[in-house]
Amino acid sequence: MNRKLYAMLGLLLILSLALAGCPAPAPGGGAAQPAAATPAEGAAAGAEATPAEGAAAPAEGVVVRAMLGAVSRDFDTAAVEYCAQETGYQIEVVNGPDSATDRLALYLQFFGAQSPDIDIMQTDVIWPGILAEHLVDLTPYVGDAIGDYFPAIIQNNTVDGALVGIPWFTDAGLLYYRTDLLEKYGYDAPPTTWAELDEMATAIQEGERAEGNPDFWGYVWQGAAYEGLTCNGLEWQVSWGGGQIVEPDGTVSINNGQAAASFDMAAGWVDRISPPGVVSYMEEDARGVWQAGNAAFMRNWPYAYSLGNAEDSVIKDKFGVVPAPMGEGDDARHADTLGGWQMSVSKYSANVDAAAAVAVCMASREGQKIRATVGSMLPTIGDLYQDADVLEANPFFEQLYDVFAGGAVARPSTVTGEAYNEVSTIYFTEVNKVLTGQQDGQQAVESIESQLQSLLQ
Ligand code: GLC
Repeated sequence: MNRKLYAMLGLLLILSLALAGCPAPAPGGGAAQPAAATPAEGAAAGAEATPAEGAAAPAEGVVVRAMLGAVSRDFDTAAVEYCAQETGYQIEVVNGPDSATDRLALYLQFFGAQSPDIDIMQTDVIWPGILAEHLVDLTPYVGDAIGDYFPAIIQNNTVDGALVGIPWFTDAGLLYYRTDLLEKYGYDAPPTTWAELDEMATAIQEGERAEGNPDFWGYVWQGAAYEGLTCNGLEWQVSWGGGQIVEPDGTVSINNGQAAASFDMAAGWVDRISPPGVVSYMEEDARGVWQAGNAAFMRNWPYAYSLGNAEDSVIKDKFGVVPAPMGEGDDARHADTLGGWQMSVSKYSANVDAAAAVAVCMASREGQKIRATVGSMLPTIGDLYQDADVLEANPFFEQLYDVFAGGAVARPSTVTGEAYNEVSTIYFTEVNKVLTGQQDGQQAVESIESQLQSLLQ
């Protein structure tokens, strides 16, 4: 769906919520009706409810409206039900768009209208600088529990001393690979370089097609012009030693041969080992091909792990995950982009205390444990990585702990602050043009550099 349409939908949603005082259809497609979780009987009366520290006592009839969803939508329900019970508030879920880029545009419309209709929203790890002025400082509501969270994310979410989001789950881009197919084609281990991936993907694709599956592809990933391509592109260029677009000291470093070569590499996959349509794929498009058993490799976030292993999944127990492969050159390395989402409360909410209590619960140890266990969402509380139930559901949490606990590569959102969304838009627009053959890697890095220099000067 294009951005203009979202803009219109956003306004309509705000208007309809304001006029009718009732939930409106989800703008992101999918489930149109908000799902409501009501506190269990007795909880509202306080019998079983244990409101989070710092929160006001639950008021009868208060409904907290939360804009959640995105690709983790399938896992929201159990934690939402738990928190309705725990806080005593009714929680109504309104789904937002899957695309982080479209979701940000929608939130900005809500905030621009100072709309009280969404109390809580999930906010991306790259947005604190952009959204801080519209978000409540949650420090008093989190209390001492603040020490439980990964300090780097707390720091990321703190703007001018205010904690504008409680770390809800973290994310790191991963390479998914089919263990059965690697074995079938005689490979002992997943690829550690892009060149190896290319070779394996080519051989497996040829073999599977020859055996009668014309829909089979070597490698699927996210190539659409949106925030997800910034994540993929950053992995490519960092893996080639091509810097981080804008360095932490503010230097615009994008114009270098390694970054350019990494974009050319990705363009070379399109319509060869990756479907031609990959240039408009987001996470769920890639997962659709992968989950149908039609790809040897996929780049995606951890949420795809539990879905791939679901009872009815054709690839159940047939895949593994490793860090993304390395590029070429002296500074080649494995690079996984840091992602993740926070629980934030809107300043325009009419029920800030209730909303904060729900946000605290959702991001609490138990709230995260539920989502980690059913949905392989990565916790932001370190000791959950030692929890037996969490590890049983996700053995890879232990193997990749170093990546999840700080080894992932951050997008330049802290250094560019409020300008980050424009930085990312320039970047993914130009990288997408390389993927679609409109320019080469060198032209892209030059164009990104000059646009960033005028934007950031
Ligand atoms: C995931 C990440 C988020 C990122 C988005 C891009 O949801 O957690 O940080 O911006 O993907 O598509």
